[in-house]
Amino acid sequence: MYSEKVMDHFQNPRNVGEIENASGVGTVGNAKCGDIMRIYLDIDENEIIQDVKFKTFGCGAAVATSSMATELVKGKSIYEALKITNKAVMEALDGLPPVKVHCSLLAEEAIHAALWDYAEKHGIRIEGLEKPKSDIHEGEEEEAEAY
Ligand code: FES
Repeated sequence: MYSEKVMDHFQNPRNVGEIENASGVGTVGNAKCGDIMRIYLDIDENEIIQDVKFKTFGCGAAVATSSMATELVKGKSIYEALKITNKAVMEALDGLPPVKVHCSLLAEEAIHAALWDYAEKHGIRIEGLEKPKSDIHEGEEEEAEAY
């Protein structure tokens, strides 16, 4: 039921850990299942994401999507990172079972939350970035229908 890539990223997650004095930190949870994810971004003066780490207290799909999301944003500019959707993360993993699609929203929203934190700390506004939710369960049904 899970692709090989999902199993690989679940069993060997990339970029697990934390970054001290990170440029931005984002924490997002889903109150319905109780899963939580935190993403740390290290962003240089050219707004390029030099390093990224994550910690996920969650299901296997949440771990795999967090791992893939960190791989996709590493080395990207903050604007490129902003465009990485949960759909792109799922495609990079060769798909997720429909009941697990919502788990991929944690990674997308945690990246947005970390970018939001970075923007706030630096007194800048990132065009196109909306204030992230701390609980993705609100509005989850609407988002899930889009896929
Ligand atoms: Fe909660 Fe997967 S079941 S994130």
